[in-house]
Amino acid sequence: MTLLFAPASLPKPKAELPNMFNPQGFSAEAISDLFLWVLVPVCGGIFLIVFGMVAYALVKNRARGQAGHGKLIYGNNKIETIWTIIPLLIVGGLIWLSIDVASDSDPSAPEDLRKEAAENAAALRGLDDDRFEIIVRGHQWWWEFQYPEHGVWTANELHIPAGKRLFLRIRSADVIHDFWVPQLARKIDAIPNWDNHIWLEANKPGWYHGICAEYCGNQHAWMRFDVVAETQAEFDTWVAHQKKDAAKPQTQMEKEGYALFANNTCGNCHTVKGTGFNATIGPDLTHLMSRKYLGSGVLELNHDTLFAWMANTQAIKPGCHMPDFRFTGEEVMKITAYLEILK
Ligand code: CUA
Repeated sequence: MTLLFAPASLPKPKAELPNMFNPQGFSAEAISDLFLWVLVPVCGGIFLIVFGMVAYALVKNRARGQAGHGKLIYGNNKIETIWTIIPLLIVGGLIWLSIDVASDSDPSAPEDLRKEAAENAAALRGLDDDRFEIIVRGHQWWWEFQYPEHGVWTANELHIPAGKRLFLRIRSADVIHDFWVPQLARKIDAIPNWDNHIWLEANKPGWYHGICAEYCGNQHAWMRFDVVAETQAEFDTWVAHQKKDAAKPQTQMEKEGYALFANNTCGNCHTVKGTGFNATIGPDLTHLMSRKYLGSGVLELNHDTLFAWMANTQAIKPGCHMPDFRFTGEEVMKITAYLEILK
């Protein structure tokens, strides 16, 4: 028996979208300030002046009745000089503001890394991965987060300590993606065979939604993630938990589920620490159930959605690289029972 689920019968996918008007990190704050400066005084001022003059002309010339049109002016150096200089000042001011914001939102790399790069006669991107606290890798269609210092790998949930400025390395496993957490920082492309770098800081603990901001294939819209900013103590607890090996199957059901996992090529794509399966093509499943969402935000993660995902992945996230295994209903129950112990 093959179980089929219509996505409509499942719980609603993640609805919240990031809000760029509520910046919570220095980089996003600089960008948001620039946006408001351009929108309110500059664009708003031009709007009021132009509409004011149009309204004035309409009212004044209407009162004039049939008496004729206003004076026609041909060639006036004074007026032409004024309307050349004013836009030049406005554009010059916008350029100055933009350059200022570009350096505020995207400061230079940390000094020790710059020094090291210079000493090795290499660019920043020539430095080893273990010099970075977090490495982000975009995949079709999910995000991989590595913490080389801690030996921790996870997916779609980037835990960071709040109030700490982190310097991230960004790369891609396949096509061009774009890492964007609108409340925290500027966007940055994830490009295959090319390392980019970005500062990321959250002022206070909270969940900050992120998205892929570069079209990267049919599930581009479901390449969401969260930055989970925590207190240092919470972050340390999270790291300590993520470092642990996966739980071992105990019940008969869990053991049979693990056997299905092991015999159905699941380990060719996924890592489950402590089992010998170490592949990094799909998300690390060692602590799968510690995460809030499934399939990069396409569903909240719980027993029902995990069951549905295992029963018919392609109905939930069409085109995703996890194939439909055509498990029987009983097999889906067993494999779900195994996956659910991966807390
Ligand atoms: Cu990845 Cu769009």
